[in-house]
This record gives sequence, structure tokens and C-alpha cells, in this order.
Amino acid sequence: MNIIEEIKKLQKASDAVILAHNYQPGEVQDIADFTGDSLELARKATDIHAAVIVFCGVHFMAETAAILNPDKTVLLPAPDAGCPMADMITGDQLRELKAKHPDAKVLCYVNSTAEVKAESDLCVTSANAVAVARSLPPDQQIIFVPDRHLGSYTAEKLGREFILWPGYCPTHARITENHILAARSAFPGSPVLVHPECPKPVRDAADAVLSTGGMCRYVKGREEKAFIIGTETGILHRLKQENPDTLFHPLLEQAVCPNMKKISLEKILWCLRDMRTVITVPENVSGRARRSIDAMLAVN
Ligand code: 13P
Ligand code: SF4
Repeated sequence: MNIIEEIKKLQKASDAVILAHNYQPGEVQDIADFTGDSLELARKATDIHAAVIVFCGVHFMAETAAILNPDKTVLLPAPDAGCPMADMITGDQLRELKAKHPDAKVLCYVNSTAEVKAESDLCVTSANAVAVARSLPPDQQIIFVPDRHLGSYTAEKLGREFILWPGYCPTHARITENHILAARSAFPGSPVLVHPECPKPVRDAADAVLSTGGMCRYVKGREEKAFIIGTETGILHRLKQENPDTLFHPLLEQAVCPNMKKISLEKILWCLRDMRTVITVPENVSGRARRSIDAMLAVN
């Protein structure tokens, strides 16, 4: 039996569903039951009928699935797969910031710990941050944590100013506007799509700013048959599979998130065999964090 057959056998025996983020290694995306961006995965997690969820992504994603499924077992095949951006703000730091701005509503990027979500009013993803922020009254003061880039992008789209936390994604921070200049001259005529976690000069130099799921939708039915993709390179696997006649060039080959690459077929096999590592969220945090996620899902 090869490793994929073994995984499928264990998966069936334990009534497990495998969810994967778009940045996962190609072979992990290929065995997953569902691959998507953070919003698609959060939505999917509200509609799971299996007893076990194997989450192929990073810690905050498995935590979100656990918050939405308190009666299911959520497994993270690589327990050390964290997100440095999510760890850039703690619950205590957010409480301090809120105390300084008592009238502000807190929007937290889904790339945050359960404790930070519990201290927030509304959760957002890169796919819906603008729509969620727009659902608040125009004169509402807004604190946005932890990603200063998604925060400034959202504020700009609304023509507003937010109170921003200085967090960022180290993988997207590596991308610069010079990479766009070089890519445009190497692949003239190819639209440049970048993620809103990129710094402002990169966003300004791009043709479109989109979540990873947004990129998958954008390229469908376009006349152009080549695109330059400015985000973590794992998304290229899905883009190529869904559009076999289109070329996709990474804006920066080195835009690789080491945490997203910690999951492998072997680790999925071990995780199903040993039923670990189980991700749980304490009840006193989970209930409040769920409110901010539900508030986001209600906007959409
Ligand atoms: P999306 O796939 O939701 O665009 O998120 C990107 C990301 O950085 C997840 O960690
Ligand atoms: Fe975190 Fe960036 Fe990796 Fe996404 S790509 S998990 S934001 S470090």
C-alpha cells in the first residue's frame, strides 16, 4: 500500500475530513478533501459532518476550526506550524490598546490567536476585510490588528484611517516593487496580482490586490494567458491545476512560508494513526472568539 492509500484507509476508519490551505505543498493539496483560502476554509468548517478534521495549515487556522466545531476532534499534523504574524500581538497588548481607545471597534485579521479573536468585535480575512469594515458606521473608530498592511489596504479602500497594529507577514514583506518592475520586463503584458499582506508600494504597483481565493476566481475567463503571482508560492499549484492552459509566474520564488511547508504526507499519516496533535481552545476563550468569527460570517 502506498502512503496515499494508507492515509485514505486511516481517514475512512477515523471518519476524518482533510482541509488544506492554498499555501500547502502540492501533494498535500492533492489529497485534501477541500482546499481554499482562509474565508473558504472558515465557511467549510461550519459545515463538517465528519468526526475528525485534519487541518493542513497553520495553528490559528486549526484553532478557528476548533472554535467552530467544539464537539469535533481537530488535528494539526505539524504542531509547530505557527504564524509569526499571529504571534505579533498578545491578548494583553490588545487589551491595553483597547483601553486607550475605548470607543473603537476591533477588527482582527483571522491570522491571530484565539485569545486576540476573543478580545475583538469582528474577525476578517483578506477576502472580506473591506466588506466587513464597510458594515460598520462610517464614523466608527476602528482598531485593526495584527497586520498593518491588510489594515492600511482596508482603510484606504474605505477612505478612512484606522488605528493599526504594526504586525506583518515576514513572507510577504520580502516582496518589493523592484520585483514587480523585474517581472513586468521579463513577462510583458502579464497582469500582476498581489496579496493585501504585501506592503503598500507593492500593492500600488500591482494590477490587482486579492486574497488567494480571489486570485483563483480572477484568472478564470480572462483573456490573458499568463499572470505574475505575488504571494506565497503554494498557490501556484492550485492555479496551474485549475487553469492548465495558462502560465503563472511567481513574483518572487523565495516567497515561501516555512510554517505552511511543515506539513507533509508522512505527518498526515502519523497524525491520523496517533490522533494527534489535537488542537483545543479553552471554553472561556472559545465562546468569545466564536462571536467575532460569527459576526464576520454574518456580514457575508
Ligand atoms: P488567504 O488565503 O485567506 O488569502 O490568506 C493568506 C494567508 O497568509 C494565510 O496565512
Ligand atoms: Fe503567517 Fe505569512 Fe505564513 Fe500566512 S504566509 S501563515 S501570514 S507567516
